[in-house]
Amino acid sequence: TDLAHIRNFSIVAHIDHGKSTLADRLIHSTGTVTDREMKEQLLDSMDIERERGITIKAQTVRLEYKAKDGETYILNLIDTPGHVDFAYEVSRSMRAVEGSLLVVDASQGVEAQTLANVYQAIDADHEIVPVLNKIDLPAAEPDRVKEQIEDVIGIDAADAVMISAKTGVGIPDVLEAIVTRLPAPSGNRDAPLKAMLVDSWYDAYLGVVVLVRIKDGVLKKGDRIRMMANGTVHHVDRIGVFRPGMLTVDELGPGEIGFLTASIKQVRDTSVGDTITHEKKGCEAPLPGFKPSQPVVFCGLFPVDTAEFEDLRDAIEKLALNDASFSHEMETSAALGFGFRCGFLGLLHLEVIRDRLEREYDIDLITTAPSVIYQIHLTDGTTMEMHNPADMPEAVRVDHVEEPRIKATILVPDDYLGDVLKLCQDRRGIQLDLTYAGSRALVVYDLPLNEVVFDFYDRLKSVTKGYASFDYQITGYRTDNLVKMQILVNDEPVDALSTMVHRDRAETRGRVMCEKLKELIPQHMFKVPIQAAIGGRIIARETISALRKDVTAKCYGGDVSRKRKLLDKQKAGKKKMRQFGKVDIPQEAFISALKMD
Ligand code: GTP
Repeated sequence: TDLAHIRNFSIVAHIDHGKSTLADRLIHSTGTVTDREMKEQLLDSMDIERERGITIKAQTVRLEYKAKDGETYILNLIDTPGHVDFAYEVSRSMRAVEGSLLVVDASQGVEAQTLANVYQAIDADHEIVPVLNKIDLPAAEPDRVKEQIEDVIGIDAADAVMISAKTGVGIPDVLEAIVTRLPAPSGNRDAPLKAMLVDSWYDAYLGVVVLVRIKDGVLKKGDRIRMMANGTVHHVDRIGVFRPGMLTVDELGPGEIGFLTASIKQVRDTSVGDTITHEKKGCEAPLPGFKPSQPVVFCGLFPVDTAEFEDLRDAIEKLALNDASFSHEMETSAALGFGFRCGFLGLLHLEVIRDRLEREYDIDLITTAPSVIYQIHLTDGTTMEMHNPADMPEAVRVDHVEEPRIKATILVPDDYLGDVLKLCQDRRGIQLDLTYAGSRALVVYDLPLNEVVFDFYDRLKSVTKGYASFDYQITGYRTDNLVKMQILVNDEPVDALSTMVHRDRAETRGRVMCEKLKELIPQHMFKVPIQAAIGGRIIARETISALRKDVTAKCYGGDVSRKRKLLDKQKAGKKKMRQFGKVDIPQEAFISALKMD
């Protein structure tokens, strides 16, 4: 296909504003899928599950559209992950296309996630077509939302396309707008191959599937290609496009988007944003701006049952094969035994991995509180990167500590503004901006990531009854007065409960943690003191009084089966506990103790 007849685009939208519904409409109204075609186009053996697997991961699709000018165009839609954790992946997908549809729910208006993603599109020099969705809803206020798009984002919304992805109204206008308002890609067919690795995932039948955008040159089956980031060479055994099933093609030329397979074993061997070229006569310089995704949030994962350590190791290694942005190394904790210190792109990523370990691999886990990366500058002039507060060197060796900061963008209805400002202030935030868009405030704060990784988002949702939207990006490191706070249970430090805190807030935090732990740790036959300490100094203290009676005491002589039931319950409860010294600490204590509400 010649470049003038290609349009590449992505859809930018807040969750639930209708991105998937619109994509489905575009696929159906261009006749990309008829049942018969779908069958013909799928590779080799047909397998519903496999087809599902593909469509879940690759929402990339190639549409053929006959426009009003009588010409047929190839429209390539690339899906972008919606969540902040994957900001780098979003920015790479954006660089693979020339334009975006900005979908805004006409009954809701612009949200924080819309903003973050649309700025990425602007950074990637996209032409942006605003699309107002859900105009069928009685609550839709297209004029107000148009104004808001202009005020808040600063792009012209006069020609916004009005649609209902649900009823199909306006879909032909979207297709025409893609052709007439978005630019065609540029590229040189005769230049050496230069392709961007946009995404990759594991397919049980095909191995690793790599999504590519060709910038220059031509990619053919049988080519030997080189990944420029790590220099590895692969033999391309299949290339194709998504319609939306996989359809093999002979070649992919400039401006085109498609996939390749090359007997690559692990997703880890491919890096999003990398440049792919030919082994021989390759391009000289890679595409600019490549950086591997770096984990920013770390936590310990330990099996509840120590006997499950090897199972956990296997499961983590399997997951890591197909997720290059997830890191892990073995860790031992005096309190929790053997486990892993794992790194994630953000909290959602952490939750996804933890859930998969528990559900797919059936391992009960203790997750320690998430921590960020600290730069510890030592008095001897060296610097260490610290992922775990338990590794904090003694205070005398530490010159100063730097922590990561973020720029947080929050959109919130006026009524809740006060609560949001208070929350940000409580979390050591510095206000950068506060503007209004209709009846909603746009708040921008500089915040320590440390204060956000834990329960900030939950708190934000609860103080605004779910009406606030939130997004963030990491801006850099800054020095602050940070110290390690230890928790001692029954006079012994519990390493998994160590945290980094700001010195000015240490006492309050310490007091809250001791109170929480007092509630969470059950009574024992003896008194259990709980203390918070900085260095050797105790800053807060609570005591759990000793237990007087046996639970079964009240059943003396009575019903034996009832007594057995109670004992069984105790046993089941025990399993969820970690014995620490002589004290049993319930699993949830390792997380709940840190919540600050
Ligand atoms: P995620 O996949 O969660 O990111 O959401 P999304 O942005 O892809 O939104 P999706 O297409 O799943 O739509 C969200 C909800 O809005 C669904 O319940 C849709 O049925 C509904 N919806 C989408 N478009 C319209 C529309 O034009 N009108 C109405 N009334 N509802 C719509």
